[in-house]
Amino acid sequence: MTGPVPLVIDTDPGIDDALAILLALASPEVDLRLVTTVHGNVELAQTTENALRVLHLAGRSDVPVAAGARDSLVYRQPERAGHVHGAAGLGGVQLPPSPAAVDPRPAVVALAELLLASAAPVTVAAIGPWTNIALLLATYPEAAERIGRLVLMGGSAARGGNVTAAAEFNVWADPEAAQKVLGSAVPTVLVGLDVTLPTVLDAAGIERFAAAGPAGATAAAILQQYLDHARTAYGTPGVVVHDALALTEAIVPGTLGTVRRDVVVDTTLGAGRGQTLVDRRTVSRSPTAVDVAETVDSAAAVEFLVGRLESLARAVG
Ligand code: BDR
Ligand code: CA
Repeated sequence: MTGPVPLVIDTDPGIDDALAILLALASPEVDLRLVTTVHGNVELAQTTENALRVLHLAGRSDVPVAAGARDSLVYRQPERAGHVHGAAGLGGVQLPPSPAAVDPRPAVVALAELLLASAAPVTVAAIGPWTNIALLLATYPEAAERIGRLVLMGGSAARGGNVTAAAEFNVWADPEAAQKVLGSAVPTVLVGLDVTLPTVLDAAGIERFAAAGPAGATAAAILQQYLDHARTAYGTPGVVVHDALALTEAIVPGTLGTVRRDVVVDTTLGAGRGQTLVDRRTVSRSPTAVDVAETVDSAAAVEFLVGRLESLARAVG
């Protein structure tokens, strides 16, 4: 019998990142061994503090948190996303501080050590800008080779961008890192806007886990700002929890319908910067091709998330 799959989440919490972490903790298929943090939605110090506090909310302050890149590889990220996630990243909700301290190791060191020590292949879910993953590839290629599956939230094949007309946020935040990661031979699933945007968690779903216990009510409170932003900015009746969908694919491989494609990133400094150019003319046989998520059963994915968060809220009490 095989046990749960070892999992690392590389993240910039971030409202949907927080939900993704909670979803992983609610899922017996995976064993969350490490959280690494990265700059992105807010500054690194804040994403790191938020990761510690989200784990504590779920009663899991035993999971180590290691801080990673403070900035993108080449050019500074033009702006943070406080207008979406709140100035402190968790929708204006102040979570109680964790008793745990940050792991003293840099994120890439913690990640490399875990990969090299693990007997079983490790799944890595990268749901912020991919700076830490690019640094791992450059610094510890022998450790990166041990990644069983790399599940990336980011990019877009046919939907355009969400932060510019061309670019999705995580790729736009560090296009050079994204090119490095997508150009590697690590087995990779790319979960982009094509599948996340149609997957909408509405107020009724949020109400279900809010009613299941205090931790569920807190997760719902964190989501409120995201919900308000979605209503005013896009006129949608619910929230797109991008990162939670990527985690669902990390937890249950095959949740999303994927096709192997060649993908390159626009790293020029023009209007297309950060665009993922997905070659949809053909199924690729290249060793650096990635499995691009192209189809999703959105209702089933939302039900999976809501059901798991309900159970977590009941278990945490
Ligand atoms: C991505 O951008 C971030 O703001 C979200 O947390 C998610 O990772 C969606 O484009
Ligand atoms: Ca994120």
